[in-house]
Amino acid sequence: DQPVEKPPLTIRLCGPRGFCAGVDRAIQIVVLALKAYGAPVYVRHEIVHNRYVVEGLEAKGAVFVEELDEIPAEHRQQPVVFSAHGVPKSVPEDAQARNLFYLDATCPLVSKVHKQAMRHQRLGRHVILIGHAGHPEVIGTMGQLPEGTVSLIETIEDAEVYVPADPANLGFVTQTTLSVDDTAGVIAKLHERFPLLQAPAADSICYATTNRQDAVKEAAPGCDLFIVVGAPNSSNSKRLVEVALRAGAKQSMLVQRASELDWDQIGAIGTLGISAGASAPEVIVEEIIEAFRSRYAATVELAITAEETENFLVNRELRNVPLTRE
Ligand code: F3S
Repeated sequence: DQPVEKPPLTIRLCGPRGFCAGVDRAIQIVVLALKAYGAPVYVRHEIVHNRYVVEGLEAKGAVFVEELDEIPAEHRQQPVVFSAHGVPKSVPEDAQARNLFYLDATCPLVSKVHKQAMRHQRLGRHVILIGHAGHPEVIGTMGQLPEGTVSLIETIEDAEVYVPADPANLGFVTQTTLSVDDTAGVIAKLHERFPLLQAPAADSICYATTNRQDAVKEAAPGCDLFIVVGAPNSSNSKRLVEVALRAGAKQSMLVQRASELDWDQIGAIGTLGISAGASAPEVIVEEIIEAFRSRYAATVELAITAEETENFLVNRELRNVPLTRE
């Protein structure tokens, strides 16, 4: 038998892609807490939106819960970690009331948005939060302020019909992982309707979201298929799929593992774009590239649009935990 020749495939691999500094820090916090305090370490909500990461930490002794009352009384002295997405103020208050020891893994860039929202309120402004209803980051940001003092705007249509009590006293912040372009449209609409609307002191959409979207815009034009490694509940990953399609990829999909790839659906492709959401580990990107290499004669080109050097320190309690102790 003659070996079947593999069809050629150009892979455009985006950079930056994958883990951001906030995700990296949140995972480190759980790993270090396990080393410092032993298992179990409780984590409220998926530490980052990725099953592979969650299962890896579960194997080390992390126990994921949705609410603090799921922590059994006999484990109250074990730490509980709050996820990178941030939590409403009521959560640390509840933890204190229950005498729990908590470690907050909220990304510092999410905490910054919380502070901006509180600043608007201090200055007498009603806060508009641009974001997606139900996402834990949105729940966390809204929960920094008393009920009724934050209005959620999801779309430009929402911005068109929103009726504030006092149009002269409004300030906005956004979720950190939104589409840069869509959000600019929503903000422009709000500014048009409410010229006195105040922006936050710094952009709420974070560097990692912006950089990943920029790299996808660069790589996507002309791609027959664009794969974003990420989970269906990962906001920033879903935005990358949309960005790829808008930038000209013929098809785009979220993929969590190589085993999900449907080769019949993929069909005949010559150019493939790949990126990964901020919560997706690099090993899965490699796994997916390998899956394509086994079927195609693939050459990998890099689409690099920025260098990232951000690195966030872990909580003070964990800074001296030796990384080598297993
Ligand atoms: Fe933080 Fe942005 Fe990552 S807010 S967790 S750096 S996606």
